[in-house]
Amino acid sequence: MRFKLFANSLLVTGLAAVLWTALPAPAQGDTNPFTGDPDAIAQGKRLWAETGCYACHGKEAGGAVGPDLTDDQWVYRPTDATIFKAIAKGRKGTTMVGWSSSLTDEQIWKVIAYIRSLYKGDPGKVIW
Ligand code: HEC
Repeated sequence: MRFKLFANSLLVTGLAAVLWTALPAPAQGDTNPFTGDPDAIAQGKRLWAETGCYACHGKEAGGAVGPDLTDDQWVYRPTDATIFKAIAKGRKGTTMVGWSSSLTDEQIWKVIAYIRSLYKGDPGKVIW
């Protein structure tokens, strides 16, 4: 009986460990865990449309009131962390507001995965 309990708890711990490693990388930190992930890109595309990013950046992010996000001209060096911050917190003094009340961290990373998938700039300038 005792042994069975012990064996069960081992099993549970083992399962938890397997589940833990099978889960996607946590949606925090400075690098996008979803870059190049086709499912995440598809979800990011949907979020891009639902959140209304297209209203300023254009349907395919080619730019309008807001800058083109598909070329290699950026306001700041476009690291994942910088882009995440721009979307989460916005850019003070511009019409780019922060979206962290409408999008979770994970959703923001997925939108960024979508933006990265649209990149048409110099491949040599990719820093993500
Ligand atoms: C009301 C207009 C507007 C909307 C809506 C908007 N943006 Fe922006 N966005 C801007 C402007 C203007 C800038 C340029 C800010 C600056 O000069 O730093 C910008 C900047 C950015 C940047 C940084 C570009 C760079 O070169 O550094 C990213 C990334 C971005 N927006 C993504 C998004 C996403 C994703 C959404 C939807 C969740 C969104 N934007 C919605 C107007 C908008």
